[in-house]
Amino acid sequence: MENLRGKTAFITGGASGIGLGIAKACAAEGMNIVIADMRKAAIDEALEYFKSSNLPAIGVELNVTDREAYKSAADSAESAFGKIHVLVNNAGIGCSSGPLWSVSHKDADVAVAVNLIGVLNGVQEILPRIIAHGEGGHVVATASKSAIVTSAGTGLYNITKSGVVAMMETLATDLQGTPVGASVFAPGGYITNLGQSSAAVTAAMTGVAPPAPPPGMAGGIPDSWVGLVRDPLDAGRRVVRGIKRGDLYILTHAEFKAGWQSRADAITRAFPDETPNPRYSEVFPFLTGNPIYGKQEQVPALPTE
Ligand SMILES: NC(=O)c1ccc[n+]([C@@H]2O[C@H](COP(=O)([O-])OP(=O)(O)OC[C@H]3O[C@@H](n4cnc5c(N)ncnc54)[C@H](O)[C@@H]3O)[C@@H](O)[C@H]2O)c1
Repeated sequence: MENLRGKTAFITGGASGIGLGIAKACAAEGMNIVIADMRKAAIDEALEYFKSSNLPAIGVELNVTDREAYKSAADSAESAFGKIHVLVNNAGIGCSSGPLWSVSHKDADVAVAVNLIGVLNGVQEILPRIIAHGEGGHVVATASKSAIVTSAGTGLYNITKSGVVAMMETLATDLQGTPVGASVFAPGGYITNLGQSSAAVTAAMTGVAPPAPPPGMAGGIPDSWVGLVRDPLDAGRRVVRGIKRGDLYILTHAEFKAGWQSRADAITRAFPDETPNPRYSEVFPFLTGNPIYGKQEQVPALPTE
């Protein structure tokens, strides 16, 4: 989707952090912005930027797990700007940590509801509207580097974000031949409000306040992280570029490439050393490969501004 000017982007979790970075980058392309977020105060604060820069933007209060509210939010966006062209399913929470056998049922339910079903709700409510108007469009969902290289102790987060990767790969496959594309955004570390917003969202949805952050993590980042975690505007620029290029995967930190490579190599080595039956791919070509993978081109370095 090369020309974004005058088109409308509906961005969940757009009131803060990466979502707000994406909203600002989309606005810089001349798009109308719909910020859909659960936290009203954060929406109001975010809208100040667009008002003061004279950029077209509205806010809608939405919990992405609420399907009825999603419909009203999409209706409000269309009332304001006519059509939605780009859906950015970015709302998400940092989940309760610890090994999977130790996390509570409540935390598991909320993680899956927000990070996975919340994304599916966006696809089911908004994608049919994008397909119906016929002007073309794009769907992006924010997964995480955690779906590319998993880490210990973050099982709930890893499984929900891995589901988002599978969802967007499947969507890109199902949308082939249409003027609508799909990408998965799998960022590394950015400086955002994820700790605070996840605590607020989890408390609102479970009635239980999550544990306090570890000492030294409440009000910022440890010194050793400085220069390694990035400004959300960088994320926004990469997402906009990915939409325009039609990338299947929008990635951020080359530091994770070796970890991914070792995962891909491990899976390759785990296939039994046996000769494949050539008839298998003749009879089941849709199981043995997927043409969307071959379409992903090499992504160049992001130009410095
Ligand atoms: N910050 C990072 O380093 C990082 C890395 C990888 C992936 N991510 C992902 O990026 C996305 C954005 O997070 P962020 O880091 O910018 O944090 P953030 O807290 O700055 O932004 C997240 C926003 O999502 C909103 N939100 C949460 N649950 C919601 C719900 N149920 N309905 C509607 N809105 C909801 C919050 O209110 C908040 O405004 C998340 O999906 C997160 O998992 C973040």
